[in-house]
Amino acid sequence: MKIGAVSLPSPFALAPMAGMTDTAFRRLVKRKGGCGLVVTEMVSSEGLVRGIDRTLEYAEYTEEERPVSIQIFGGDPAKMAAAAAIVEGMGADIVDVNMGCPVPKIAKHSAGCSLMKEPAHAAGIVRAMAKAVKIPVTVKMRAGWDERSVNAPELARLMEDAGAAAVAVHGRTAAQSYRGSSDWGLIAEVASGVRIPVFGSGDCVEAGELVDRLRAGVSGVLVGRGALRNPWIFQQAAALESGQPVPDVSLEERGRFLLEYIDMLLREGEGEADGFRHAVPGTGAAPSAPPARGRERWVVNKLRALGSWYTKGLDGGSHLRVALNTAESIPQLRDVIRGFFFAPTTAGV
Ligand SMILES: Cc1cc2nc3c(=O)[nH]c(=O)nc-3n(C[C@H](O)[C@H](O)[C@H](O)COP(=O)(O)O)c2cc1C
Repeated sequence: MKIGAVSLPSPFALAPMAGMTDTAFRRLVKRKGGCGLVVTEMVSSEGLVRGIDRTLEYAEYTEEERPVSIQIFGGDPAKMAAAAAIVEGMGADIVDVNMGCPVPKIAKHSAGCSLMKEPAHAAGIVRAMAKAVKIPVTVKMRAGWDERSVNAPELARLMEDAGAAAVAVHGRTAAQSYRGSSDWGLIAEVASGVRIPVFGSGDCVEAGELVDRLRAGVSGVLVGRGALRNPWIFQQAAALESGQPVPDVSLEERGRFLLEYIDMLLREGEGEADGFRHAVPGTGAAPSAPPARGRERWVVNKLRALGSWYTKGLDGGSHLRVALNTAESIPQLRDVIRGFFFAPTTAGV
């Protein structure tokens, strides 16, 4: 499986998720195995071009995440091309364009999914980016803007002509947001209409679903919320695909994942990362996470955000969710996690 000249070790990829797929989470997922590509949270092209610290932080990644795709958003072809060149300068393997975000703050600036309403303009952006960089430019879109304007098959062809090396399709419209279900029939139609690889996205929460979707005619499968619930989903799908038994994940392993995530976020905050960090050239040191005073709150909030997904489907998950949401400090968070995952029958002994 290749995107341009970039080889992916597996066709299963971690979808971009704002607020969730930070470098620490991506590294932890990669370490479990089976994940062929990770995509960053969406990064503002405007912020990249202006060198804004907070933006640069979203674009950071480490060597062990490779191949890594940095997703950018924006509506101005010249700025998107300049941002793509910055992303290339950071050493990313792929630059991805967000044409799926339905949030008005983004969509009203001719960015995100509103680009699906302006196909010629969207093609102009991809053409400008493809001209500006050597790394593959890819596009992530939805089914269309609303049910009256489902145009992913046509848009994908336009993107291919404009120089996109792959497209990903989340089979819902922007108007649907996350209601209903992803239309995999439409995704298959997109895949049959272009020569470039097509990734399908939407509603895969079991390892078997990734494998079934792959066999139904796409080149790859992007997993979002399913990976927040179960970061082992790629490892399990890879095992299934190669005819091996699906590895079980013990409660303790699930607990260790959260504890490691906390430790990595804390180290991140101290400006230390495990492995080489890629910052934007010419901007000096790697951008910093929140300063010491705000760091604990930042980590607590990050754990709450992940907890809202991670606890789904676990026995007693709703209690854990409430406990994570009420923990106000790192020691409290660690206690909640140890109490739930490590010695449920001997807690308090
Ligand atoms: C919390 C959250 C944040 C997301 N942020 C992004 C984003 O930054 N860029 C993007 O292209 N899609 C984003 N998405 C959409 C996902 O990449 C994915 O296409 C969608 O959730 C459907 O797949 P799933 O059912 O596997 O989650 C986000 C989804 C969620 C749930």
